[in-house]
Amino acid sequence: MSISSVIRCTGSYLPDRVLTNKDLESMVDTTDEWIVQRTGIKERHIAAEGEGTSVLAIKAAQKALESSGLNPSEINGVIVATTTPDQSFPSVAVKVQAALGLNPGPAFDVQAVCSGFIYALSVADSMIRSGAMERVLVIGAEKMSSLLNWEDRTTCVLFGDGAGAVILEKSESQDGILSTHLYADGKLNDLLYTSGGVSTTGDAGHIVMHGKEVFKNAVGLMADIVQEVLEKNKITPDQIDWLVPHQANLRIISGTAEKLNMSMDRVVVTVHKHGNTSAASIPLALDTAVQSGAIKKGQLLLLEALGGGLTWGAALVRF
Ligand code: ACO
Repeated sequence: MSISSVIRCTGSYLPDRVLTNKDLESMVDTTDEWIVQRTGIKERHIAAEGEGTSVLAIKAAQKALESSGLNPSEINGVIVATTTPDQSFPSVAVKVQAALGLNPGPAFDVQAVCSGFIYALSVADSMIRSGAMERVLVIGAEKMSSLLNWEDRTTCVLFGDGAGAVILEKSESQDGILSTHLYADGKLNDLLYTSGGVSTTGDAGHIVMHGKEVFKNAVGLMADIVQEVLEKNKITPDQIDWLVPHQANLRIISGTAEKLNMSMDRVVVTVHKHGNTSAASIPLALDTAVQSGAIKKGQLLLLEALGGGLTWGAALVRF
């Protein structure tokens, strides 16, 4: 009997405050036109002061739990993908565990920047397949606004805050997470980083990005990894119902869709409303498409992301 892990349900949360490109025009030397043309972003949500990443994660997790119909005692573990924890420790995951009243079990954070959710999903899938866990809450949550230099127009226009969650559970079907693919190339760590850290400057620092280089790597590496997913699973692009990409830049998203020969009406796009929410972007996009009725049970989804590290990854999922 083969064991797989399936996504039982999704949930997400966005902070109330919406920051538009027009708002940014009065903060830095930029224009709505420049931002839309280069990135596709029109607005993003920004968390309130005191509204830390754990608050976002807990709200997204609560929505997933509500829609699952499960009792909190039926969740065995929590993995949170985040680059912006409330504190160096404890993890965001233990705060989610406590807030939801879950029983003791593994709870930890995974840090792979924008690829974090794919990494967390892969770890949870392995834990379920190994028989160690029955159900794991997997969350991507970020308060990217806390890492931004609001005077740096090259980065502050790109990011937003939010959280998305899924409950992954054991299944005896052949469905669910069909394959996951994880990569990092640390030689490229200086393309995208923060200017600080606890063991160096003592503070979190700000995002620094060599945008053009990241862009070039993203287009090539995303094309390669989707090809790898197709070959490994012996499928053709026309069998994929939805591409659910990391939402960093509409040009990277449409470049990947083009490589797959997929029309944009089979691509989940939320970057115009959310900006780049790093590890939260894929579960947020997934929940948005599930709530709107676009993504339906049984459909084949290709998730893919690239982020600081550089890290990148993909997952093929029968939803
Ligand atoms: N408004 C107006 N002008 C701007 C702005 C702005 N907000 N930002 C930069 N410019 C200017 C630059 O100063 C430059 O001016 P110059 O030619 O006079 O020097 C010009 O616009 C072009 O700048 P580039 O950086 O070359 O613009 P590019 O077309 O590369 O677009 C962007 C920048 C959007 C950042 C793009 O490179 C990109 O999307 N890169 C990939 C980002 C990504 O995928 N990140 C993923 C992971 S994020 C993570 O892991 C945390």
